Order: sequence, then C-alpha cells, then structure tokens
Amino acid sequence: MGTPHNSAMPGEIAKTVLMPGDPLRAEFIAKNWLTDVKLVSKVRNIYAFTGKFEGKEVTVMASGMGMPSIGIYSYELFTQYGVERIIRIGSAGAYSERLKLYDVVLAEECWSESSFGQTQNGDTSDIKYPDPELNQVILEAGNKCGIEVIPAKIHSSDVFYSEPGMDSFQEIYAKHGSECVEMESFALFHNAKVLGKKAACLLTISDSFITGEKATVEERQEAFGNMMKVALKTAAM
Ligand code: ADE
Repeated sequence: MGTPHNSAMPGEIAKTVLMPGDPLRAEFIAKNWLTDVKLVSKVRNIYAFTGKFEGKEVTVMASGMGMPSIGIYSYELFTQYGVERIIRIGSAGAYSERLKLYDVVLAEECWSESSFGQTQNGDTSDIKYPDPELNQVILEAGNKCGIEVIPAKIHSSDVFYSEPGMDSFQEIYAKHGSECVEMESFALFHNAKVLGKKAACLLTISDSFITGEKATVEERQEAFGNMMKVALKTAAM
C-alpha cells in the first residue's frame, strides 16, 4: 500500500505521531531521542521515522509548512494508517507580552481566517479546538518533566508575508485574543474533529512581534528540546 504522499506500509506507523514542520527536525528527534528507529517514508523528503521512547512506539513525521500540507499528511495518517493521536510540535511568533522567547505554549483554542474547513466539509467556524483529554495528558507530561507549559489561544495564519494595510498583530490580538501565530493547527484540529481522532499542538516561541527578537537556528534547536521532551513523554503516557 502507501499513499501518493507516504510510502510507509500499514503497521509501520505508530498510533501516536509527533509532527514537527521541518523534516530535519523529525530526523533530529528520531536520531537523538528514539531507539529501534526505522525510516518508514521519505516521499518529497518528508521524513517519517518510527521508533520507541520509554518502550512505547512513536512515529515522528514532518508536516511541511502551512495548512494544505499538514492537511494532506494528517488526513492520510488518520484514515490510511490507523493513527489515533497527532501532536504538532512547532514554532510560533508571539503577539502578546506574556509569551517570551523559548516559552513552550499549548494551543487551547485556535482562530484562523483560513477557508480550510469550509472547503473541506462546509464547516465555516473560524475557531477549532484540540482534544481536551490529550491537552490534559500534555499538561501532566509537562509537570512530570518539570517543564512549564503555557496554555494559550493561538492564530493559525495562511500567510507569512502580508502587505501593509492588513490587520496588524495588535489588531488580531485585540479582536480574537490569539497570543501567538503559527500556520498549521487549524487544519490539523479540523481533520481530527471530522475523523473522530485526537490532535494537539505544542509550540516554542521562536520570535516576538513585540520585541522583534528572533531565535537563531542553534538556539531554536536547543530550546526545542524542552517541547520535544514534553511531547515524547506524552506519547509514552
Ligand atoms: N512560526 C514561527 N514564527 C512565525 C511567525 N512569525 N509567523 C508564522 N508562523 C511562525
């Protein structure tokens, strides 16, 4: 079997999948944190590795960037591979002063201007939710690891570069209460809801719209370690 976008065989993907955006981050996690690792797909260089963490099977597969991309991979994982839980592990830009560089944020609600839901099944709601039970497990995992996890409402954006005159981050924060921005969770949460599966999203703050700070590539790798630990602990719970 396999799909046009995933060459893994049935049974080669775990029930829980961790999804960073970046294929190289998927490889980093697999090589540094998992045992008994196998590369199960590399179609379009979207790596999927299955291995074990604390004795439990887990797959780490990249989502690529943006809602169409995570929409494809998550839909196929849920429908073709029997995946039950997807935890996105990504980066986000802070809109609020409360969120500092390298903070680990747990999406508890996600607003988007995206038409993903409308196009996918006619759902016009502009707010999507993660699975509350999975979020609870993630918070417990954070406690166990001694890593602070900050629940927040987020913004999933369809556009990274927008022209002047569009809503500023201050306006989006004021109108919708979204404290940081990323580009995938809205589609992931939508697919999970439609298919009766569980999804959640952990984010590391990599840049701040307020202070203009940006993490370097090395700093990102280091800081992302905290988020990975929480996500892996969750997968093992
Ligand atoms: N991910 C990390 N930083 C981001 C930003 N500024 N906008 C959208 N997605 C992001």
